[in-house]
Amino acid sequence: MSSIDVLFEPFTINSLSIPNRIVMAPMTRSFSPGNVPNDDVAAYYRRRAEGDVGLILTEGVSTNQTTATGTPNVPNMYTDEAKAGWEKVVKGVHGADGKIAIQLWHEGPMRRPDKTPYPDVASWSPSGFNVPGKVQWAPMSEEEIELAISEFVNAAEAARDIGFDAIEFHGAHQYLLDSFFWDQTNIRDDKWGGDWEGRTRLACEIIRRTRAIVGPDFPLTIRISQWKQTDFDAMTASTPEEFGIWLGFLKDAGVDAIHCSQRRFWEPAFEGSPLNAAGWAKKLTGLPTISVGSVGLSGEFIAAYGGESSEPASLDHLVEMMERKEFDLIAVGRALLQDPEWVQKIRDGRNDELKNFTKDALGVLY
Ligand SMILES: Cc1cc2nc3c(=O)[nH]c(=O)nc-3n(C[C@H](O)[C@H](O)[C@H](O)COP(=O)(O)O)c2cc1C
Repeated sequence: MSSIDVLFEPFTINSLSIPNRIVMAPMTRSFSPGNVPNDDVAAYYRRRAEGDVGLILTEGVSTNQTTATGTPNVPNMYTDEAKAGWEKVVKGVHGADGKIAIQLWHEGPMRRPDKTPYPDVASWSPSGFNVPGKVQWAPMSEEEIELAISEFVNAAEAARDIGFDAIEFHGAHQYLLDSFFWDQTNIRDDKWGGDWEGRTRLACEIIRRTRAIVGPDFPLTIRISQWKQTDFDAMTASTPEEFGIWLGFLKDAGVDAIHCSQRRFWEPAFEGSPLNAAGWAKKLTGLPTISVGSVGLSGEFIAAYGGESSEPASLDHLVEMMERKEFDLIAVGRALLQDPEWVQKIRDGRNDELKNFTKDALGVLY
């Protein structure tokens, strides 16, 4: 008989103490007019701290105002107004004894210029395409790559100065960093492409230069995914050996933890072992890892966008995996988007109060 107690053991990532194993997954909410997180956004995050979430990860936050985002009302960490907004968010969360990390995001080739106020600005990508082989833009120049790095590092430094407890770099889901990792979207033959060292160089430069500024104790994490938005079965690393090489470069650059995005946390990452991606990442690197994907809900999140509703689901399988110490932390997305008290309800056995997730929740800051 498994016990949810394993979810309520403390954990540390570098110097950051986290009171339990539950992380709020990063979720774009598009509730920041002018790209500035306002008081409603601050109250939304504070409610998760009051609801005993162990570590809050913010929604993806843009590193500039032009190429980094094609999604309306997404907050940035670029303008003074947005930084002032984030300061209020951090104060609110700390006022409720919570911990909060910012997720820094560049949409890269997934940005749709026509959906932005800058339709004539080309999206940034390693080789000019978002889906393999379909050329849309010129590949990023050396100057643009340098600019992308400095914008990530500047945003990270600003986030540390504002008081965020940690920084997560968004290296998943076919966005800028992931499109450099994946050999189907990165066919460059210069030092930013080619082998694993070349394809991880952009992320590693961002990590290394951030580490040089924030010092050895400040927690840095990266989120990665094998799956792509245009291909759920894609695998950036096709074997555990390749996965180890990829993550090894990120570890050597200085990340403290790896967050492995999956749509369903229980799915094995490679044939022949039940370990999921976070399980393999922990085994291969020895770093703390975060898993995610359909925790506490019957359906997965992409289908939720399409209108499929989900019911509360058992946590037994999750608990068994965590009791086996396959990974260290579990991120929870929609269940926490819908219900700021989800952690307390799980802890206190108030299962009859758990809610279904419906698409309508996407339009509300509960
Ligand atoms: C509304 C919404 C917005 C999301 N935005 C982000 C994001 O900004 N960054 C990111 O890495 N993942 C994002 N995701 C993915 C989630 O972090 C998470 O991996 C996914 O929802 C699976 O977890 P769940 O099944 O518990 O919802 C988003 C998911 C949802 C539902």
